[in-house]
Amino acid sequence: MQAKCTCPGTDHEKALAQIANVIDLYRGKDGSLIQVLHLAQQIYGCLPLEVQMFISREMGIPLSEISGVVSFYSFFSTVPRGEHTIRVCLGTACYVRGGKRVLEGLMQRLGVELGGTTQDGKFTLEVARCIGACGLAPAMLIDDEVFKQVNVNKLESILTKF
Ligand code: FES
Repeated sequence: MQAKCTCPGTDHEKALAQIANVIDLYRGKDGSLIQVLHLAQQIYGCLPLEVQMFISREMGIPLSEISGVVSFYSFFSTVPRGEHTIRVCLGTACYVRGGKRVLEGLMQRLGVELGGTTQDGKFTLEVARCIGACGLAPAMLIDDEVFKQVNVNKLESILTKF
């Protein structure tokens, strides 16, 4: 059996009961799966196999279909995510202006690989493709906040805000 989510504050049974309520709300509505998965991820913190199986049973949708949707969209995650998500832009403008160095600096400072989450559960590190700030590259996002003209020396002061 899949390990239960270890996100802070996640109470497994309570979370599944909440997800069941969400499914009831969307039952029978067209195109409801993505909406249900979004809300389930908010409730549970991530979408491990166990949660996917629960949704599959409750909605009567094959597990293969649910797993396909979860793996297709980058905003769904099967493992617990950090409290904050850092996305370093590696679009062309950011890449040529040092985005890769910023990414390497973050990996070193946070002690994580790309896609990983820090041991304290604070940050998950990912990359993005152009976040619309090319004129002030390299750029990165932490949650919804955009940081422009980032360089390795600025990382410490940016991270301490969180
Ligand atoms: S390429 Fe990074 S913001 Fe556009």
